[in-house]
Amino acid sequence: MEVLITGATAGIGAASAKALARVGHEVIIHGRSEAKCALMVKDIQAQGGIARAELADFSSLTQVRAMADRLANQRIDILVNNAGVWMNKAQETEDGFELTWQINHLAPFLLTQLLLPALLERPDARIINISSSGHRAGRIHFEDINLRDNFNGMAAYCQSKLANVLFTQELARRTQGSSLLTYAVDPGAVLTDLLAKTGFNPPGAKHAEEMVGKWLAVVLGPQNRDSSGGYFSPNGRLSEPSTRDKELAARLWSMSESQTKV
Ligand SMILES: NC(=O)c1ccc[n+]([C@@H]2O[C@H](COP(=O)([O-])OP(=O)(O)OC[C@H]3O[C@@H](n4cnc5c(N)ncnc54)[C@H](OP(=O)(O)O)[C@@H]3O)[C@@H](O)[C@H]2O)c1
Repeated sequence: MEVLITGATAGIGAASAKALARVGHEVIIHGRSEAKCALMVKDIQAQGGIARAELADFSSLTQVRAMADRLANQRIDILVNNAGVWMNKAQETEDGFELTWQINHLAPFLLTQLLLPALLERPDARIINISSSGHRAGRIHFEDINLRDNFNGMAAYCQSKLANVLFTQELARRTQGSSLLTYAVDPGAVLTDLLAKTGFNPPGAKHAEEMVGKWLAVVLGPQNRDSSGGYFSPNGRLSEPSTRDKELAARLWSMSESQTKV
């Protein structure tokens, strides 16, 4: 399989890319740093794996579009939307969106839309959106998506992770009857730069290499077609997300389309 992993230059994305390459999948390492991408590709190739890099800074929707253009005619079986940030201070992108919202939701939303036609041609296509248990504390602030009135990192992060869950549900509805399966995955607490930025120190947090097996089984394993749109907890089991509100998911989809002009 050919797997595109966003944010594969560190943390969960990097560990996942290495694990996938080790079992023979071809990986496309997405990152925003040319040097970090090159290092990852070199590491994987040194271990006999097949990898190449794709650059795009997700704080620019123009760069997301350019990357999707470059990939449009290439074979991709699995897209893992993993890149993510936690911001302790509000910062807006060149597109006018709060950084957490753009990196964690709008950029993967846009990338997915642009790659969807190619993915739908594959017999076993999958789109995996890395969410978080934090989605349970999230609310979509339709009236102030950038949280300009009252920014805090937790609210911004949980809003974006709820968006990952709702996006997955709506994507599953819209691709029903196709070859595509899509899931939201909570990888659990993993010791990464992102976790360090949150200031939380959850007991039982694991190193990325320790936990990849669990959720890669979701990515690669046989799944029931009825489960598309589902949410996997860190133990690798399907579980109930905080909501299955179809109207909310459709409203988010429509706002995301207009924000990304897709
Ligand atoms: N760690 C946890 O406990 C935990 C728990 C639940 C969910 N998650 C989710 O897991 C995913 C991966 O997080 P992680 O913990 O592995 O974080 P991480 O180690 O900080 O890695 C984040 C990745 O996203 C990339 N990225 C950041 N900003 C970007 C931008 N502007 N454009 C393109 N790429 C960008 C980073 O690139 P650079 O290497 O260039 O920085 C890196 O490759 C996130 O979606 C996160 O919400 C994490």
